[in-house]
Amino acid sequence: MPPQPIGEILVQQDDLAHRVRELGGEISRDYEGCDLLLVCVLKGAVFFLSDLMRHIDTPCEVDFMAVASYGSSTESSGVVRILKDLDMPIEGRNVLIVEDIVDSGLTLSYLLRMLKARGPASLEVCALLTKPERREVELPIRYVGFEIPNRFAVGYGLDHAERHRNLPYVAALEDPS
Ligand code: IMP
Ligand code: MG
Repeated sequence: MPPQPIGEILVQQDDLAHRVRELGGEISRDYEGCDLLLVCVLKGAVFFLSDLMRHIDTPCEVDFMAVASYGSSTESSGVVRILKDLDMPIEGRNVLIVEDIVDSGLTLSYLLRMLKARGPASLEVCALLTKPERREVELPIRYVGFEIPNRFAVGYGLDHAERHRNLPYVAALEDPS
Protein backbone atom coordinates (compact mmCIF):
# COMPACT_ATOMS: atom_id res chain seq x y z
CA MET A 1 0.00 0.00 0.00
CA PRO A 2 1.57 3.37 -0.95
CA PRO A 3 1.84 5.81 1.99
CA GLN A 4 -1.02 8.30 2.19
CA PRO A 5 0.14 11.92 1.69
CA ILE A 6 0.52 14.36 4.57
CA GLY A 7 -1.93 17.23 4.94
CA GLU A 8 -1.79 20.28 7.20
CA ILE A 9 0.53 20.55 10.19
CA LEU A 10 -1.36 20.24 13.48
CA VAL A 11 1.53 20.85 15.91
CA GLN A 12 4.77 22.52 14.84
CA GLN A 13 8.17 21.19 15.90
CA ASP A 14 8.92 24.26 18.09
CA ASP A 15 5.58 23.99 19.88
CA LEU A 16 6.21 20.30 20.58
CA ALA A 17 9.64 21.07 22.06
CA HIS A 18 8.27 23.89 24.21
CA ARG A 19 5.31 21.95 25.57
CA VAL A 20 7.34 18.79 26.25
CA ARG A 21 9.76 20.90 28.29
CA GLU A 22 6.84 22.38 30.26
CA LEU A 23 5.37 18.93 30.94
CA GLY A 24 8.77 17.69 32.13
CA GLY A 25 8.92 20.61 34.57
CA GLU A 26 5.42 19.95 35.89
CA ILE A 27 6.13 16.24 36.36
CA SER A 28 9.44 17.00 38.11
CA ARG A 29 7.66 19.26 40.60
CA ASP A 30 4.74 16.87 41.19
CA TYR A 31 6.93 13.81 41.72
CA GLU A 32 9.76 15.43 43.68
CA GLY A 33 11.02 12.95 46.27
CA CYS A 34 8.85 10.15 44.83
CA ASP A 35 9.92 6.97 43.18
CA LEU A 36 8.64 7.52 39.63
CA LEU A 37 8.22 4.78 37.04
CA LEU A 38 7.35 5.91 33.52
CA VAL A 39 5.44 3.29 31.57
CA CYS A 40 5.80 3.95 27.87
CA VAL A 41 3.28 2.48 25.47
CA LEU A 42 5.06 1.27 22.31
CA LYS A 43 5.65 2.19 19.66
CA GLY A 44 4.24 5.68 19.10
CA ALA A 45 5.05 7.16 22.52
CA VAL A 46 8.78 6.37 22.36
CA PHE A 47 9.62 9.66 20.67
CA PHE A 48 7.64 11.69 23.21
CA LEU A 49 9.03 9.67 26.13
CA SER A 50 12.66 10.17 25.17
CA ASP A 51 12.24 13.95 24.88
CA LEU A 52 10.04 14.18 28.00
CA MET A 53 12.42 12.14 30.17
CA ARG A 54 15.30 14.51 29.42
CA HIS A 55 13.24 17.30 31.01
CA ILE A 56 12.47 15.35 34.18
CA ASP A 57 15.06 16.16 36.82
CA THR A 58 13.82 13.90 39.61
CA PRO A 59 15.03 10.26 39.73
CA CYS A 60 12.90 8.06 37.45
CA GLU A 61 12.91 4.72 35.71
CA VAL A 62 11.24 3.55 32.51
CA ASP A 63 9.58 0.34 31.35
CA PHE A 64 7.78 -0.49 28.12
CA MET A 65 4.62 -2.23 27.14
CA ALA A 66 3.07 -2.90 23.76
CA VAL A 67 -0.62 -3.28 23.08
CA ALA A 68 -2.52 -3.67 19.84
CA SER A 69 -5.70 -1.72 19.41
CA TYR A 70 -5.59 -0.85 15.73
CA GLY A 71 -4.68 -2.94 12.72
CA SER A 72 -3.53 -0.72 9.92
CA SER A 73 -6.92 0.98 9.68
CA THR A 74 -7.76 4.29 11.34
CA GLU A 75 -10.61 3.09 13.58
CA SER A 76 -10.23 1.61 17.07
CA SER A 77 -11.40 -1.99 17.27
CA GLY A 78 -12.13 -1.66 20.99
CA VAL A 79 -10.26 -4.91 21.47
CA VAL A 80 -6.92 -4.54 23.22
CA ARG A 81 -4.30 -7.24 23.12
CA ILE A 82 -1.03 -7.20 25.13
CA LEU A 83 1.89 -7.81 22.78
CA LYS A 84 4.57 -7.08 25.37
CA ASP A 85 4.07 -6.79 29.11
CA LEU A 86 6.17 -4.78 31.57
CA ASP A 87 9.49 -6.28 32.68
CA MET A 88 9.08 -5.19 36.29
CA PRO A 89 6.38 -5.39 38.95
CA ILE A 90 4.67 -2.06 39.71
CA GLU A 91 3.28 -2.83 43.15
CA GLY A 92 3.88 0.15 45.44
CA ARG A 93 5.41 2.26 42.64
CA ASN A 94 4.32 5.69 41.43
CA VAL A 95 3.43 4.89 37.85
CA LEU A 96 2.98 7.43 35.07
CA ILE A 97 1.71 6.03 31.77
CA VAL A 98 3.20 7.89 28.79
CA GLU A 99 0.94 7.73 25.73
CA ASP A 100 1.19 9.30 22.30
CA ILE A 101 -2.51 9.95 21.73
CA VAL A 102 -5.85 9.28 23.38
CA ASP A 103 -8.58 8.90 20.78
CA SER A 104 -11.66 6.86 21.81
CA GLY A 105 -9.93 6.18 25.15
CA LEU A 106 -10.62 2.44 24.90
CA THR A 107 -6.96 1.43 24.91
CA LEU A 108 -6.12 3.58 27.90
CA SER A 109 -9.16 2.57 29.90
CA TYR A 110 -8.13 -1.06 29.47
CA LEU A 111 -4.52 -0.31 30.44
CA LEU A 112 -5.59 1.66 33.52
CA ARG A 113 -7.78 -1.18 34.74
CA MET A 114 -5.10 -3.75 34.17
CA LEU A 115 -2.28 -1.79 35.82
CA LYS A 116 -4.44 -0.68 38.74
CA ALA A 117 -5.06 -4.34 39.58
CA ARG A 118 -1.28 -4.72 40.16
CA GLY A 119 -1.41 -2.36 43.16
CA PRO A 120 0.72 0.68 42.24
CA ALA A 121 1.02 3.44 44.90
CA SER A 122 -0.32 5.87 42.27
CA LEU A 123 -1.30 5.66 38.62
CA GLU A 124 -1.53 8.70 36.32
CA VAL A 125 -1.45 9.40 32.59
CA CYS A 126 0.61 11.78 30.48
CA ALA A 127 -0.62 11.96 26.87
CA LEU A 128 1.02 14.09 24.22
CA LEU A 129 -2.18 14.46 22.23
CA THR A 130 -5.88 14.02 22.79
CA LYS A 131 -8.89 14.16 20.47
CA PRO A 132 -11.69 15.09 22.91
CA GLU A 133 -14.41 14.87 20.20
CA ARG A 134 -13.72 11.16 19.77
CA ARG A 135 -13.82 10.13 23.43
CA GLU A 136 -16.09 7.15 24.18
CA VAL A 137 -15.05 6.64 27.82
CA GLU A 138 -14.24 9.37 30.32
CA LEU A 139 -10.68 9.10 31.62
CA PRO A 140 -8.60 11.02 34.12
CA ILE A 141 -5.64 12.33 32.09
CA ARG A 142 -3.40 14.27 34.46
CA TYR A 143 -1.04 15.73 31.84
CA VAL A 144 -2.02 16.61 28.27
CA GLY A 145 0.30 18.11 25.66
CA PHE A 146 -2.20 19.31 23.06
CA GLU A 147 -5.86 18.87 22.17
CA ILE A 148 -6.23 18.27 18.44
CA PRO A 149 -9.28 18.19 16.16
CA ASN A 150 -10.86 15.00 14.90
CA ARG A 151 -8.24 14.22 12.22
CA PHE A 152 -5.96 11.23 11.85
CA ALA A 153 -2.58 12.46 13.07
CA VAL A 154 0.90 11.26 12.07
CA GLY A 155 4.47 12.24 12.94
CA TYR A 156 6.59 12.57 16.11
CA GLY A 157 6.04 8.86 16.68
CA LEU A 158 2.48 8.56 15.39
CA ASP A 159 2.02 6.34 12.37
CA HIS A 160 -0.40 5.38 9.68
CA ALA A 161 0.30 1.75 8.73
CA GLU A 162 3.79 2.18 10.31
CA ARG A 163 4.69 5.17 8.10
CA HIS A 164 5.44 8.80 9.01
CA ARG A 165 6.70 8.23 12.57
CA ASN A 166 9.90 10.06 11.64
CA LEU A 167 8.28 13.43 10.89
CA PRO A 168 9.57 16.01 13.40
CA TYR A 169 6.08 17.62 13.68
CA VAL A 170 2.51 16.33 13.98
CA ALA A 171 0.43 16.54 10.79
CA ALA A 172 -2.97 15.35 9.66
CA LEU A 173 -3.18 12.73 6.95
CA GLU A 174 -4.57 14.27 3.79
CA ASP A 175 -8.31 13.70 3.39
CA PRO A 176 -8.82 10.84 0.95
CA SER A 177 -11.37 12.89 -1.11
P1 IMP B 1 -7.98 4.69 21.34
O1 IMP B 1 -8.11 3.34 21.98
O2 IMP B 1 -9.08 4.92 20.34
O3 IMP B 1 -7.92 5.83 22.35
O4 IMP B 1 -6.68 4.70 20.48
C1 IMP B 1 -5.46 4.58 21.08
C2 IMP B 1 -4.33 4.26 20.14
O5 IMP B 1 -4.70 4.29 18.75
C3 IMP B 1 -3.28 5.31 20.30
O6 IMP B 1 -2.40 5.00 21.37
C4 IMP B 1 -2.59 5.28 18.95
O7 IMP B 1 -1.61 4.29 18.93
C5 IMP B 1 -3.71 4.95 18.00
N1 IMP B 1 -4.29 6.19 17.41
C6 IMP B 1 -5.45 6.80 17.74
N2 IMP B 1 -5.64 7.92 17.02
C7 IMP B 1 -4.56 8.02 16.22
C8 IMP B 1 -4.13 9.01 15.24
O8 IMP B 1 -4.79 10.03 14.96
N3 IMP B 1 -2.94 8.76 14.64
C9 IMP B 1 -2.17 7.68 14.93
N4 IMP B 1 -2.50 6.76 15.83
C10 IMP B 1 -3.69 6.92 16.47
MG1 MG C 1 -0.48 4.27 21.27
